[in-house]
Amino acid sequence: MEDGDRLFIENHEQEIILGLMVDGTYFAIQDVCTHDDGPLGDGDLDGCQLICPRHGARLDIRTGEALTLPAIIDVPAYLIRVVEGIIEVGIPTK
Ligand code: FES
Repeated sequence: MEDGDRLFIENHEQEIILGLMVDGTYFAIQDVCTHDDGPLGDGDLDGCQLICPRHGARLDIRTGEALTLPAIIDVPAYLIRVVEGIIEVGIPTK
């Protein structure tokens, strides 16, 4: 992967995770905006901020924090690591 590339990962519970690389580091957040449930995957990146393509909310891809309106609720962020070339995403159990 290169900076700005995206991965879409579906887990066993149908939750879509968006994996992104910025400055050589991988990050993963839920691919659903908390404002109106829109997908985030096509949003533009501005540094570590992902801009929701529907209404423009900015989310920090490192933490999932909702930085600007109209989103006010953070999206889940997931631990991510690369082990021997394999990308692993830590998804908490319920
Ligand atoms: S759905 Fe993301 S800002 Fe509205």
